[in-house]
Amino acid sequence: MSEAYEHAPCGLVSTTTDGTIVRVNATFCRWTGYQADELLNQRRIQDLLSIGGKVFHQTHWAPLLQMQRSVAEVKLEIRRRDGRKVPMLINAVRRTVGKAEQDDLACIVVNDRHKYEVELLHARRQAEEALEARSAAEEALQRADRHKDEFLATLAHELRNPLAPIQAAARLLTRKAFADEQLNWSTRVLERQVAQLGRLVDDMLDVSRIAEGKLELRKQRMSLATAIELAVEGVRDLVRTQSHHLRVNLPDAPLFVNADPTRLTQIVLNLLNNAAKYTPPGGTIDLGVRSEGDELVMAVRDTGIGIAPEHLNTLFNIFSQLPEGHSRSRGGLGIGLSLVRALTEQHGGTVTVTSPGVGKGSEFIVRLPLAFVGSNNRSKQRCARCITAAQQTPDSYCRRQRRFGPEPRDAARG
Ligand SMILES: Nc1ncnc2c1ncn2[C@@H]1O[C@H](COP(=O)(O)OP(=O)(O)OP(=O)(O)O)[C@@H](O)[C@H]1O
Ligand SMILES: [Mg+2]
Repeated sequence: MSEAYEHAPCGLVSTTTDGTIVRVNATFCRWTGYQADELLNQRRIQDLLSIGGKVFHQTHWAPLLQMQRSVAEVKLEIRRRDGRKVPMLINAVRRTVGKAEQDDLACIVVNDRHKYEVELLHARRQAEEALEARSAAEEALQRADRHKDEFLATLAHELRNPLAPIQAAARLLTRKAFADEQLNWSTRVLERQVAQLGRLVDDMLDVSRIAEGKLELRKQRMSLATAIELAVEGVRDLVRTQSHHLRVNLPDAPLFVNADPTRLTQIVLNLLNNAAKYTPPGGTIDLGVRSEGDELVMAVRDTGIGIAPEHLNTLFNIFSQLPEGHSRSRGGLGIGLSLVRALTEQHGGTVTVTSPGVGKGSEFIVRLPLAFVGSNNRSKQRCARCITAAQQTPDSYCRRQRRFGPEPRDAARG
């Protein structure tokens, strides 16, 4: 027998078709702990297999060898002489030797591969467990989120009920002039603060409605100027107490949009309110309106505390309040901008923000589709012409410039 056969880097075994071992090399004997004469004509290959291996041999191995005359890459555990098991990968072929048939087997020990497979299985089980844990955590989060939405909705409704009569009573009181000046001052404070509370509760209600998909828009063709006027009115007190300078630039020709008047005002009011809130006293707020193609563009720019670049993307998420603004100390819930975004999108528009950085002011830009008069082409053309005219003379935007709040000189006087 050749050296190469005896010491091949794999175990070589030949058997008769019933599995009786008729030839075996030294490598196989070394790996299994048997002497060659303990195997030759003494044992069948299936005698060296574990119970599962024996079953496999009977149901698969033998029939396959008979049908296709070969089996490849079968992994079986071979029982050593001392009872320990060694995993082996086996290839077998059946060939005719003289008048008899013989099966030749090549076996390699796959301890490492076996270990890898066990490790892989373990890792896979761990990954599956982690995935299950993650989806359970996500479900819990979604449940908590739903509970939060429900809680907000209930809270807002419960607050709304007592607030409405308080607001009415406060309004009634401010109509009276009391002899005691302190009483007059108190009623004004009462009305202002209750109005602020009302706005917060309304915002909370809207956020819940949007989360539940229940917010309905009552759209009509309207000029943006109307919404701006109401919003400016709403922010007037804050602008005055902060001594800000608020400038509104409207184009000569009115620009129309299909919008819900209350919601459009809410968009503008939230942006103006933020600009006034996040700008140190004596700042300037510019509200400009222009058209670009089929879009109306409204920009609210302030000279306030600005926004760090890393926060520009998350600012419109609900409850996001930036450290720069020390928002909590300025009041508010962190829902204004999420409302602005949701409402703008419900109107088919977009809102974006830019800022050169902290301390350098910021600019919020709302884009809404322009509404054309009727749907026929002539009226569309007429409207488009007046837009084009306005675009060609940018100065005309400033012609209808209006000022709100004190002039800087007034501010100095307080
Ligand atoms: N003009 C601005 N300049 C700088 N930071 C701003 C400006 N507007 C908003 N922010 C930042 O974005 C955050 C989110 O604004 P948002 O209007 O959603 O909430 P809020 O003003 O804190 O509370 P509220 O719910 O009353 O509006 C603010 O807390 C503030 O940190
Ligand atoms: Mg706000």
